[in-house]
Amino acid sequence: NADADFELIGKNEVLPIYIPREKYSHKGTYGHSLIIGGSYGKIGAVQLATKACLKSGSGLVTAFVPKCGYLPLQVNIPEAMVLTDTNEKQLTDIQFDIEPSVIGIGIGMGKAKASVKALEDLLNRIQVPMVLDADALNILAENKALLKKLPAKSVLTPHPKELERLVGSWKDDFEKLEKAKTFSNEYDCILVIKGANTITVYQNKGYVNSTGNPGMATGGTGDVLTGLIAGLMAQGYQPLEASIFGVYLHGCAGDIMLNNTGYQSLLASDVINGIGPAYMDLF
Ligand code: APR
Ligand code: MG
Repeated sequence: NADADFELIGKNEVLPIYIPREKYSHKGTYGHSLIIGGSYGKIGAVQLATKACLKSGSGLVTAFVPKCGYLPLQVNIPEAMVLTDTNEKQLTDIQFDIEPSVIGIGIGMGKAKASVKALEDLLNRIQVPMVLDADALNILAENKALLKKLPAKSVLTPHPKELERLVGSWKDDFEKLEKAKTFSNEYDCILVIKGANTITVYQNKGYVNSTGNPGMATGGTGDVLTGLIAGLMAQGYQPLEASIFGVYLHGCAGDIMLNNTGYQSLLASDVINGIGPAYMDLF
């Protein structure tokens, strides 16, 4: 029921969201995503998000990483472009000469003082649609004044711990969702509350996802979701629709790949390889 406080999201609900490709389109039609994150030892997070962003259909994808991320990204993801910070191991100054249609930021970036400053400085300069995850959320939680600087309808993708840092603790699921709604209204943002049944909250409504499985409880699957939602926004999906559809496709990708891997061996990279089959499963 589309008018209720909650809506269960399955294939019937995402099909009307889906935007088919036009025959006479080109890569410019499908946007340019900028994935920003990484720090020494956590460059893998950016690789996962970047690859997922490409697989979601973003026309172009650029990754912005500390210098130590340059080689792994160029070698492992030839389809992606790479820009680097001046610093070897962490983000300190996020300067780029491209005009991205969307920014996905936070995965693996850490909370070094210089990185906090870099995020703050970016939010002061840039009003590009954004997906914020992981340490970008932890930084926002510790610097609440920054929340007012987010572009309208930013997408925030916290796991339960990250959500708690943002909205405070709750005594039950009802209170958790009330806090999420209040937060969404106050900062005009979309909260994708990740878990076994991910709930996307916008204003006073929750969208409960029906896909996904416990095989996805493994490092990096959240980074994949960040890239996937950003890639959908690059293609012209509005932030709320990109979140609902992205969460659905992500879970569906995990469900399809489970047939090859079983629960224990499903990896975040497998979820990336399931994105194509998840699109194919729509029809
Ligand atoms: N059933 C279905 N889906 C699940 C389940 C489950 N039982 N468990 C997890 N998932 C999905 C979630 O819905 C989410 O999309 O897997 C993803 C996990 O995302 P994260 O919790 O962000 O995990 P991860 O990608 O490993 O995060 C990497 O960044 O967020 C920080 O500090 C965090 O170490 C973590 C790192
Ligand atoms: Mg995560």
